[in-house]
Amino acid sequence: MITVAPSILSADFLHLEKDVQMVNAAGDIFHLDVMDGTFVPNISFGFPVVEAIARKAQRPMDVHLMIVHPEKYVDRFAAAGAAMISFHLEAALADGSDPGAILDQIRSHGVNAGLVVNPDIPVEGLFPYLEKTDFVLIMSVFAGFGGQKFIEATYDRIRTVRAEIVRRGLPCRIEVDGGVSASNAAALAEAGATILVAGSSVFKAPDPAAEIARIRYPLSF
Ligand code: DX5
Ligand code: ZN
Repeated sequence: MITVAPSILSADFLHLEKDVQMVNAAGDIFHLDVMDGTFVPNISFGFPVVEAIARKAQRPMDVHLMIVHPEKYVDRFAAAGAAMISFHLEAALADGSDPGAILDQIRSHGVNAGLVVNPDIPVEGLFPYLEKTDFVLIMSVFAGFGGQKFIEATYDRIRTVRAEIVRRGLPCRIEVDGGVSASNAAALAEAGATILVAGSSVFKAPDPAAEIARIRYPLSF
């Protein structure tokens, strides 16, 4: 089953409540991109926006941290109401941090822990941490901006991770983020992704709720 996580980065920030209510009605998860201008060359939003969304959200919040030293901010995003928090493997390793310890920190709040890799990071790097990981997030664009073109090599990367998860009998789910639309949703699901993040394809659609349905049930349209 496909779960659709609209990415609020592409929402209308002047009318955010309208888009939050649309996700409440038609989406499954709020995907919230937090960027620091250091790990990625862009700055998005932080606690005030996440806390405001939390007051209206009737779906789980999935906080995707594109920041250095994610361990400094995990506790506050958990307190803000996140149900899922993910951070980049390559960010933690560059910081000299232990990714396993950060995954434990996230889980200590009763929050689902996710580990992310950019397209240039071998997915095998995720394998030592899969027992501590509730979901892996395979980036299908380079983290930092919405509206980029989907990278086709993502399918094989998802298959590789799925094979390892199945081989070890783990409950870890696979999320994919970047350039996702109704046109590639079926192939992504077939490869093994079950959480599909979609920003511009949803929020730039004339009918965002209908677009979410097309992503969730790609073979029905
Ligand atoms: C990119 C973000 C994505 C982004 C996806 O760094 O992690 O969540 O919002 O946007 P689209 O779906 O437009 O590629
Ligand atoms: Zn994201």
